[in-house]
Amino acid sequence: MAGGVYIVGAGPGDPELLTIKALKILRKADVVIYDRLVGKEILACARPSALLLYVGKEDGHHSLTQSRINKLLIKYAEKGCTVVRLKGGDPFVFGRGGEEALFLASKGIPFEVIPGITSAIGVPIYAGIPLTYRGVASSFAVVTGREAEFKKESTIDFGSLSGIDTLVFLMAVSSRKEIARRLIKGGRDPAEPVAFIEEGTTDSQRVVLSTLGEVATSPPLVRPPAIFLVGRVVMFREKLGWFERRDYGEARFYDGIGYI
Ligand SMILES: C[S@@+](CC[C@H](N)C(=O)[O-])C[C@H]1O[C@@H](n2cnc3c(N)ncnc32)[C@H](O)[C@@H]1O
Repeated sequence: MAGGVYIVGAGPGDPELLTIKALKILRKADVVIYDRLVGKEILACARPSALLLYVGKEDGHHSLTQSRINKLLIKYAEKGCTVVRLKGGDPFVFGRGGEEALFLASKGIPFEVIPGITSAIGVPIYAGIPLTYRGVASSFAVVTGREAEFKKESTIDFGSLSGIDTLVFLMAVSSRKEIARRLIKGGRDPAEPVAFIEEGTTDSQRVVLSTLGEVATSPPLVRPPAIFLVGRVVMFREKLGWFERRDYGEARFYDGIGYI
């Protein structure tokens, strides 16, 4: 593809979770337009001559509006550049990748989408929590925390979420109390275990365990980016969490067995 845009998922944080396809295109890119959750080690994979443009958001505000990001994509693609639009996790999971792809399609700009490992799936693994487990959890859902925070009348049916075994909320740090309340109101057990995983898969990963009832009344301190995981599978962390680097600075391995 000469002069076009690759919408690329950078994975949840650990640079080694970048896909080979993403790495190959990053090494060829003339321009890399990247978001806040893309780490320096991943950006370092781009050619030294590549133009790196930060368009992420701080504290919930876009530093560039979506329409200005769209204009940048067109500007460089029309110059014949290979443009990588690099996003944390997977571009189509709460990453506005779908919107950007539609925009490019509407303008006739050639584009390709390269999936990444979403934080919703990669982060629990590094914390020793399986999303499904035979006999314990047969279903999981990935849900935005944004709606509970900003919308009085959320389009999310919290009652129906009580039928799903494992729930992974993204962007839910500031709405965690409200989410827990709504889930309990919708029928979930206040004693159900929950985990918050901050900066998952990175050297700064931190796991906070609690219960739904506690989060609904006095939520533990958590900093973004974090995922809020609800479900009985959290209990497996005690057995599987050994592979996590608990004391950062110490080895991430236990008895020489790799963590995945
Ligand atoms: C705008 S959404 C983007 C999600 C991304 N497209 C994905 O697939 O992971 C940002 C949210 O993803 C979650 N997130 C991303 N990276 C994370 C990480 N390393 N650890 C914990 N949560 C993360 C947080 O909930 C954060 O607020």
